[in-house]
Amino acid sequence: MRRRRVTVAAGFCFSFCLGTLLNLVFVPGFDHHQSGVARSRTDPSPASADLARQLRERYGEVIRYREHRAPPAAAKRLVRPLERRLMDLARRAPAEHRSERAVAPSPKSRVDLAAGAPLLGCGDLGDATDVRYLGSGYTKAVFKAVLNGTAWVALKSVDFGGHDIENCLRRFGAMGDCYRLASYKLVKEMILLRRLQHPNILQLYGYCYQDSNEISDALTTIMELGAPLEMIQLLQTSWEDRFRICLSLVRLLHYLAHSPLGSVSLLDFRPRQFVIVDGELKVTDMDDASTEEESCSRNSDCFMEFPARNFTLPCSVEGRCQSMNEKRNLYNAYRFFFTYLLPHSAPSPLRPMLDLIVNATGELRWGIDETFSQLEKVLYLYKSGLYLQNVSHAHKAEYRRVPDTSIVEENYRCWPSYHHQGCLLSVFDLREAIEVCESHSQCKAFVWTNQTTWTGRQLVFFKMDSSHVVSDPDKITYVKMAG
Ligand SMILES: Nc1ncnc2c1ncn2[C@@H]1O[C@H](COP(=O)(O)OP(=O)(O)O)[C@@H](O)[C@H]1O
Ligand SMILES: [Mg+2]
Repeated sequence: MRRRRVTVAAGFCFSFCLGTLLNLVFVPGFDHHQSGVARSRTDPSPASADLARQLRERYGEVIRYREHRAPPAAAKRLVRPLERRLMDLARRAPAEHRSERAVAPSPKSRVDLAAGAPLLGCGDLGDATDVRYLGSGYTKAVFKAVLNGTAWVALKSVDFGGHDIENCLRRFGAMGDCYRLASYKLVKEMILLRRLQHPNILQLYGYCYQDSNEISDALTTIMELGAPLEMIQLLQTSWEDRFRICLSLVRLLHYLAHSPLGSVSLLDFRPRQFVIVDGELKVTDMDDASTEEESCSRNSDCFMEFPARNFTLPCSVEGRCQSMNEKRNLYNAYRFFFTYLLPHSAPSPLRPMLDLIVNATGELRWGIDETFSQLEKVLYLYKSGLYLQNVSHAHKAEYRRVPDTSIVEENYRCWPSYHHQGCLLSVFDLREAIEVCESHSQCKAFVWTNQTTWTGRQLVFFKMDSSHVVSDPDKITYVKMAG
């Protein structure tokens, strides 16, 4: 692993040093890869013929995604500022773009990552600092870095020590073509990231082709930075934060099912294909995405196999397995995310709805539209406090309000708390805070903070003693009265 990281880091740094900006065409990588396909065709050995076939297939796939026309209704949505920028650049002559970049960057200009900003390129990578390894999968290695001292980004490139390159080298022994085969995945991912725009899909900020020690025109993509998803960590967070992950996933799947490219399935759905950005789940790995709906002549052709369960979907009169992409995504969302994150320590009035969502998706009784509206409904009930309406409010104690004060110590632990040492929970209103305090035998007071969670709920510290109330202008202490 260490050797692999060193190899990748060395290749990566070397490619940075050499940095020459090459041309930018409509599909990133189009020219470089096209010439690779042509070269492979001339080699006569059977192994090379196989490799050439694979290159042609991948190349064909990239072209299909590049040229896929959006249906008329979706076309309008597609031409957003960033998309338009890509199109504008495509129309320019490569030389024009090269000279523009050669004079444009002033060394410490701020890197602009806002939507609609120009795409970043090799010029921006030249100034990368704090480069650190983040992770790798089957094909790619990912680093984080600061560009121009101003913006954190993620940098993806083909992992020279990864399984994909290793397997290819073992079979074909041709580094140049193996690299090209693997880098098609990066190109495909770029195209999909450009054509699919959604808050839960990572943004592509730019890309760069540079010569590295082994490869000419090695590709690096520049992306929005996230934090690799740690399931164990997620299991320890509050229900509200776990619900946010599931909601972002469902919003993403809803978009993918109705995307400008048709219904998109994420064939490799494991949690490591997603990252977290400001508490939201975003998909990063798009190289295994597919828009093809399986063709069929009978229902039994539409068989979906999972480790714990299988499904047979209807074969439509047009000879396509109905909603297979959408249902595959949904069942994967159920088995990797919903079962672990949704019901567990949820507010009890919401439990029946959450159990229904988990069961219905686990049996694929609902499609994504129904699942989406049910999760949005849960969010609405939770945010509006309506879920509390049926809860009894038989309080035993009175609470004395002490404005502009707080209790610093006197913590006790509860679960799942937003604070490691103390009991910090979110509540809808004062009534819910009192209820929580009543339900904890240690609770003698609580402190209303000036902080809220992503749903706008109030964060409240629950305390086991009220004898050390101190002045604090931003908080309010509520002290439980005896009797
Ligand atoms: N934008 C990003 N920010 C932070 N980490 C990332 C980012 N993209 C990928 N990663 C991490 O790098 C790993 C490998 O990236 P991925 O695109 O999944 O490569 P592969 O196609 O080889 O599986 C991911 O599992 C994830 O943990
Ligand atoms: Mg991956």
